[in-house]
Amino acid sequence: MLLPSDWVLRHSLAMWLLLHSLVLMVFCFHHASTACSKLCYCSESEGKTVRCSNLRLDEIPRDIPNDTRRLYLDYNLLTSIPANAFQDLHQLSELDLSHNELALLEPGAFRSLGASLHFLDLSSNRLVTLNPEAFEGVAARSNLTNNPWHCDCNLQNALPRLDLEPVSLTGIVCQTSEPPDMGADGVPFLLAKDLDLCVVLKKTTDVAMLVTMFGWFTMVISYLVYYVRANQEDARRHLEYLKSLPSRQGKSEESSTISTVV
Ligand SMILES: *[C@@H]1O[C@H](CO)[C@@H](O)[C@H](O)[C@H]1NC(C)=O
Ligand SMILES: *[C@@H]1O[C@H](CO)[C@@H](O)[C@H](O)[C@H]1NC(C)=O
Repeated sequence: MLLPSDWVLRHSLAMWLLLHSLVLMVFCFHHASTACSKLCYCSESEGKTVRCSNLRLDEIPRDIPNDTRRLYLDYNLLTSIPANAFQDLHQLSELDLSHNELALLEPGAFRSLGASLHFLDLSSNRLVTLNPEAFEGVAARSNLTNNPWHCDCNLQNALPRLDLEPVSLTGIVCQTSEPPDMGADGVPFLLAKDLDLCVVLKKTTDVAMLVTMFGWFTMVISYLVYYVRANQEDARRHLEYLKSLPSRQGKSEESSTISTVV
């Protein structure tokens, strides 16, 4: 039979162990949810801010905490953004990808950021053209300046399909353009209002159509000419054969008049 003091001791020990593990668990959970990426610096001013700037990164760190509100990946060596790159960052409101080597934004690159994202910095990269599928669902304001934009019919058709805040598009200054002589170079694409880079494309397809039709026409004509010539040749040979038969002189003269008629 246990003494009451022994009973109390045992139970308080159990309670203490339970409490201890509970504290440990809470601590661990807390630690997990507020952990920072190994490579980056985190701070908690107005929501979590994660700074991974200037680290020569060539890919996006995989351990960005999912409660990050601002993510700085500027001044790195990123060349592309794969699909679903920021999948778990549902609270992200500001994303800085400026001063990288970005040339490719894959379709769905910013998928799932849609609702929360307010500012997307893509300035000072190597973007040449815009793929609307890359910006799927992104309605943020974006800084698109300082990229070697190539303004052509593709870009013109892409712009109306973007959900980005319209002011963002003023950052698209054409570095090169197609066709090259339309005066788009060095001009923000949106401000060149009368510019229609697709019209010329339509014109060139018209010309191609015309050339093809002319080609067909020439072929038909040359076939006709060939056909007539070949028949004339036949007729002449026939005539010569008839001439070579002395007994049918009259008849051959007859066919000669026929062949001249032909
Ligand atoms: C972050 O991930 C943890 C663990 O997967 C989850 O419990 C939590 O709800 C997530 N937080 C957000 C803001 O998505
Ligand atoms: C856009 O980015 C460029 C270069 O990175 C910077 O100079 C400019 O101030 C930015 N503009 C806005 C509106 O943030």
